[in-house]
Amino acid sequence: MPPETPSPDTVHKAIIFDDVSIGFEDISVLDGVSFDLKRGETKALLGVAGSGKSTILKICLGLVKPDRGHVYVLGHDVTTMSEEELFDLRNKIGIVFQESALFDSLTVRDNVAFRLMEEKLPEVEIEQRVREALSFVEMEEAIDKLPSELSGGMRRRVGIARAIITQPEALLYDSPTGGLDPITSTTIIELIMKQRDVYKTSALLVSHWPAIILIPSPSTCSRWMARLSETSTQAS
Ligand SMILES: Nc1ncnc2c1ncn2[C@@H]1O[C@H](COP(=O)(O)OP(=O)(O)OP(=O)(O)O)[C@@H](O)[C@H]1O
Ligand SMILES: [Mg+2]
Repeated sequence: MPPETPSPDTVHKAIIFDDVSIGFEDISVLDGVSFDLKRGETKALLGVAGSGKSTILKICLGLVKPDRGHVYVLGHDVTTMSEEELFDLRNKIGIVFQESALFDSLTVRDNVAFRLMEEKLPEVEIEQRVREALSFVEMEEAIDKLPSELSGGMRRRVGIARAIITQPEALLYDSPTGGLDPITSTTIIELIMKQRDVYKTSALLVSHWPAIILIPSPSTCSRWMARLSETSTQAS
């Protein structure tokens, strides 16, 4: 009898990449990538432009299927799930998109409320949760503003408020400091660490900004991989 493959530890791990490869038009982008994200951990994967950072997050969401390997997210193998199952899984995940991706014509309030409005929650509850999320990212005063009236760093904060408002089980940050100056980038990273320490949400962050690994944390470690590197921090 062939040896049994050990089942992945999805109880303690929110995300597991097991020997994942993908290429586009015969060009290899990810080649045998393996890593895991423990529950409650915030982990950063570092890579240069075009190294496959956004692709990793799209694979987590089941938007892109890898050519090889398995990916487990919150206990499910996303490489074998139906679109309907993926829809339910995506509802448990908050995403901070590259460049924030706010809706230009909606106020900060409506951008942050978007997913709760889709769920048709009562208006009073939506208003309260929007204010809580904006207060967390110190942006409550901008509630009636449009994205065009905000700086890049402020838009990033609103993007984080929008991602956390559903109290997701996992968070994905796509280049959250991209295009920001170093000081503003540091304040965004501090906010991500605050999210980790207060809510202990499992979070995967991809970035090209090496200074991320310099953010002080009690259990920071880093490991270099062929093209991507990872650094991970656990709430203390
Ligand atoms: N759907 C697709 N079709 C063809 N090529 C793709 C597709 N998605 C990604 N790629 C290619 O895969 C590579 C990795 O793309 P990806 O967006 O993941 O990189 P990235 O690390 O996020 O880059 P950046 O730092 O610029 O955001 C790039 O060369 C990109 O052109
Ligand atoms: Mg990208």
